[in-house]
Amino acid sequence: MMETNGTLNGEMKEKKLFTPGPLGVSLSTKQAMLRDLGSRDTEFIHMVKYIREQLVQLAGVSLDDYTCVPIQGSGSFAVEAVLTTSIPCNNGKLLLLENGAYGKRMGQIADVLGVDYKVVSFPETSQVCIEMVQKLLQEDNSWTNVAIVHCETSSGVINPVEEVGKLVKEYVPDAFYIVDAMSSFGAIPLNLDTIHADFMVSSANKCLEGVPGFSYAIAKKTSLQKCKGWSRSLCLDLVAQWEGLEKTGQFRFTPPTHAMLAFNQALMELHKEGGITGRSKRYQENRRVLQEGMKAMGFKELLDDSHKGYIITSYYYPDQEKFDFKEFYTKLQSKGQVIYPGKVTKANCFRIGNIGHLFPEDMRLLLTCIREVCYEMGITLPLEK
Ligand SMILES: Cc1ncc(COP(=O)(O)O)c(C=O)c1O
Repeated sequence: MMETNGTLNGEMKEKKLFTPGPLGVSLSTKQAMLRDLGSRDTEFIHMVKYIREQLVQLAGVSLDDYTCVPIQGSGSFAVEAVLTTSIPCNNGKLLLLENGAYGKRMGQIADVLGVDYKVVSFPETSQVCIEMVQKLLQEDNSWTNVAIVHCETSSGVINPVEEVGKLVKEYVPDAFYIVDAMSSFGAIPLNLDTIHADFMVSSANKCLEGVPGFSYAIAKKTSLQKCKGWSRSLCLDLVAQWEGLEKTGQFRFTPPTHAMLAFNQALMELHKEGGITGRSKRYQENRRVLQEGMKAMGFKELLDDSHKGYIITSYYYPDQEKFDFKEFYTKLQSKGQVIYPGKVTKANCFRIGNIGHLFPEDMRLLLTCIREVCYEMGITLPLEK
């Protein structure tokens, strides 16, 4: 039953989110939202400008050449905004290099948009293969757009976006190169010039640790300018959103004011932590603690060492009759530990994220809870090889 304090059955327990999103954020980031700002408020307008500039700088590029266009909504909104805005209306042809659920989602978006596209699929447990991409581009260079996911969060595979970007610019120099860096931006240093990206997409509630509410594209200005008038959507038109922001400093429609206030605070906390380098160190340490602890319990990782990063880790279900993921998940959740189901099609896995407001001590507590839950379920540890 919903209580007067807005909780269900009075339950207001702090939960740690070891998920691909939504992610946990600091108390101070949540507290930053405890005031109202109007969309035309000069404080808000300055803050939006500051946030956009900061994001371009975090992408390692110059404000002369790149711009950041935030868009209301979750990460998929920015992905769809980039696709609908940047695929030419007449001869548009998108090459989609996919090795997991988020790559496939771009295909779903292309379907809805009714654009010409080809999906080239790679195994979910390995990286997009450079040699195959080179062959593909040598055989056909009629693409107007090439898209790839940086960290395929469904498995944890990190794709070689720089190498693919080089090939795109060598074989199809006029094509726009689109990188979905949703779960990696802010955690893995990325320079958009170096990876040759025309468009990079991420969202507020990923590694920059803001709250959900908006996503953003960081775009090469000369590329974005070429796309004027191509969008099949009014709300997701990145050029119109950009022009609006440049002209008035305002969003076109109701802005995510509270999410922006939280993000502003989250950026301050990122800088305090030592920027992307500092954050990546914490996430890597989270991962190291998790990896060691899970290995000691005998859990097996889905990916081999060559292409996994430190964003999220997929583990095979233990090969034991008593293991039931739903029960495992529910018992962990009742201890305040939220993990996530797997998202690969060919193996039974669950996922544990290292990102968001998580620290090595949180990973240690999670490991303790996993041990307890295994004990409660009658699963003997360490698991047999
Ligand atoms: C790589 C990637 N792309 C796209 C998305 C979709 O973002 P959202 O669920 O916020 O719409 C996610 C979500 O985790 C993701 O990890």
